[in-house]
Amino acid sequence: MPGFSTRAIAAASHAPESPQPPVNVPIYATSTFAVADAVELGELLEFARPGHSYSRYSNPTHEALERALAELEGAEAGLATASGMAAIHGAIVAFLGAGDEIVLPRAVYGGTIGLARAVLGRLGIEHAVADTTDHDAVSGALTSRTRMLWLETISNPTTAVADIAALAELARLRGVMVVVDNTFASPALANPMALGADLVVHSTTKYIGGHSDFIGGAVVGSENHIRAIREVVLNVGGNASPWEAFLALRGLKTLGLRMERHSSNAMTVATALEGAPGVAAVRYPGLASHPQHELAARAFRGGMSGGMLAIDLAGGRPHGERFLGRVRVAVHATSLGSVETLVSHPASSSHRQLTDDELAAAGLGPGTVRISIGLEDAEDLVADLVAAAAPD
Ligand SMILES: Cc1ncc(COP(=O)(O)O)c(C=O)c1O
Repeated sequence: MPGFSTRAIAAASHAPESPQPPVNVPIYATSTFAVADAVELGELLEFARPGHSYSRYSNPTHEALERALAELEGAEAGLATASGMAAIHGAIVAFLGAGDEIVLPRAVYGGTIGLARAVLGRLGIEHAVADTTDHDAVSGALTSRTRMLWLETISNPTTAVADIAALAELARLRGVMVVVDNTFASPALANPMALGADLVVHSTTKYIGGHSDFIGGAVVGSENHIRAIREVVLNVGGNASPWEAFLALRGLKTLGLRMERHSSNAMTVATALEGAPGVAAVRYPGLASHPQHELAARAFRGGMSGGMLAIDLAGGRPHGERFLGRVRVAVHATSLGSVETLVSHPASSSHRQLTDDELAAAGLGPGTVRISIGLEDAEDLVADLVAAAAPD
């Protein structure tokens, strides 16, 4: 008889098949999969047959998330990644090389600009920046070397809304790929593929997960595009973990419900803050005062405008910093898209190196505060945020 350890390892490795399918996707907590022979392994590593070889390449829990996101975004295929940044990196590096250019929105997630500066530049991939609400500016920024136009459905942190259909058409005529970061809107509000995007990326850390309890990302698009991105991601090790993929799947089930509440809470708060003492401006696509309000009303599902808003405090930097210290219901933390209301002040955090002029060029003011509205009771949020914004 084999020794105890041999028997223990074998005994504890039998995965039972349930005749009744589980209601939730199991977490396939395995780094590797037993194969019949070298031919099978070779074919699996080449993705020439269905199945799994090694979890950096693929895993059933990742696959379930990839299929779910592809379906909800109206794409052929998807890839789950370790973070939103891993998805953004893969989506760019799979298609651009030395001498190519990418056009980024003027107001874009700081990590995307950080990637362009810290990594893409070293690969010889140049970036230009354009105000994506100004189509002439975008057209002017596209050169013969531009291969990709990057958009955010709702920009971080300014809440500018991109006219994806018009910009995708503009790019298509110039032979430029369009990638949309749909993190702020989530698939519950918008499906950029249907508007002409070639790829859609998500930080699943945000609304898809929805509970501030993991970091994850995903990209969806055509089979061919996803194959090319998978090649990059598996080689740099940017794959998802099955544990986090499970949490993202769980989050997806309540995404629709949560986005309704994020949107209605944000609308109530935005309305209350507009004109409140100390508040110079409120930027929320649901407000009639938002420059792309009509577009948002047309483009987003179910009359929702999402949970992200930005306010400009009249007292500049010190007012922004004071606001952070005064909130009692909201939490001062980076990140967004969660059940908790989260506040951040770009001028003293993500954009702290910038002068007031540089902030203005990025569409921000020294007193701009980003608020990710959570699922708390709206009246508690209104009381908390109005009090925090009040001048001394
Ligand atoms: C719009 C947007 N895209 C991408 C990311 C990056 O996601 P992650 O932190 O999961 O890498 C973030 C993070 O804040 C984001 O706000």
